[in-house]
Amino acid sequence: MSSTKNQRIVQKTTLQKMSSMQLSDYDMENTLNIIKERDGDDQGPSPSTARKRWKILAKVLRKDSSEETVSSEDSEEAERTASVRRFKSFDLLKQDSFEDHLALDCLGKPDNWYTYKLNVDDREYYVNIHHLERHMTAEDLMGFNNTGNVCVWPSEEALTIYCLSNLPHFKNKWILELGGGMTCLAGLMLSKYAKPYAVHLTDGNQISIENVRKTVCLNELSCYTKCSTLQWEDQGQRAPSECEKFNFILSADCLFFDDVRSFLVDTIWYYLKPLEGIALIMAPRRGKTLDNFIKHCVAKGFTIETVHKYNDIIWQKHVELKQMELYDEDIHYPILLKLTKMESE
Ligand SMILES: C[S@@+](CC[C@H](N)C(=O)[O-])C[C@H]1O[C@@H](n2cnc3c(N)ncnc32)[C@H](O)[C@@H]1O
Repeated sequence: MSSTKNQRIVQKTTLQKMSSMQLSDYDMENTLNIIKERDGDDQGPSPSTARKRWKILAKVLRKDSSEETVSSEDSEEAERTASVRRFKSFDLLKQDSFEDHLALDCLGKPDNWYTYKLNVDDREYYVNIHHLERHMTAEDLMGFNNTGNVCVWPSEEALTIYCLSNLPHFKNKWILELGGGMTCLAGLMLSKYAKPYAVHLTDGNQISIENVRKTVCLNELSCYTKCSTLQWEDQGQRAPSECEKFNFILSADCLFFDDVRSFLVDTIWYYLKPLEGIALIMAPRRGKTLDNFIKHCVAKGFTIETVHKYNDIIWQKHVELKQMELYDEDIHYPILLKLTKMESE
């Protein structure tokens, strides 16, 4: 077997372990293609490219004070030259350091706090966000899915913008976010700005939720905001008191896990209020993954509306980005699904 082929198998195995084997084959292939794209050809990476890549991976996995190391000139250079020519966001979400050190004294290392800002319809919205401060151990990586501890994905960015541009709809409503990752940004922004009745922020990954709890402490929110670990496949974790309670369920980029897709559909069905409740599901098409989710939803009994153009600014960015080689609509442009259900649980 050639060394290049060997290398690919090792990469694939590592990726599978990191994702707890929950990524679809399609997504795995895409990730491998990104790696291949980075390498430039089929001969495998040069030693210096490989070193740079591992530095970047280390940056992603180490979110503690050593982050300063990775923001050094050296590492920026590494990222610039070795990182993928890859689409990371619509560049609408801005990140600033958080300046109120007095408030931070009791909340851990100031370096881990950021202010995330978004301009929507000529108004600035911001929340303070905590970044993971712990080292990701091998045990963490082999444990529950960690895709939500890497970054805010473009679908969450798009869902947040969609929610902020429709704020009045969420007033006095019950809101649940599923698979919100380390920020649960869309739910958090609504909790701060929409005056809902209550917001419940959830993810299956406990590390993400510990982080969201810290974040909630350092924001003045407009309603009761709860944070919980909620794994879609674990029916025991569902709260009977919240069954069919939610007027809105939010979820971003959670459709590509083949083995838990049907559990996600069941979870939405369990929590969504019949007739008036709407689940806002944002995700790129990613091969067959979005269509497969729709099939599960139809089989369950949901009515589905698919919206491609849900926000003018994101659409404009999308049209501009389509001219660029690094942008692949299939894996990068988030589509909005609106699910409703007519029957009861
Ligand atoms: C690609 S991330 C998206 C995170 C966030 N919504 C965003 O877009 O930035 C997918 C999220 O789904 C969560 N997830 C994966 N499988 C899950 C499951 N079985 N139950 C609950 N959450 C799950 C992961 O922990 C992760 O936070």
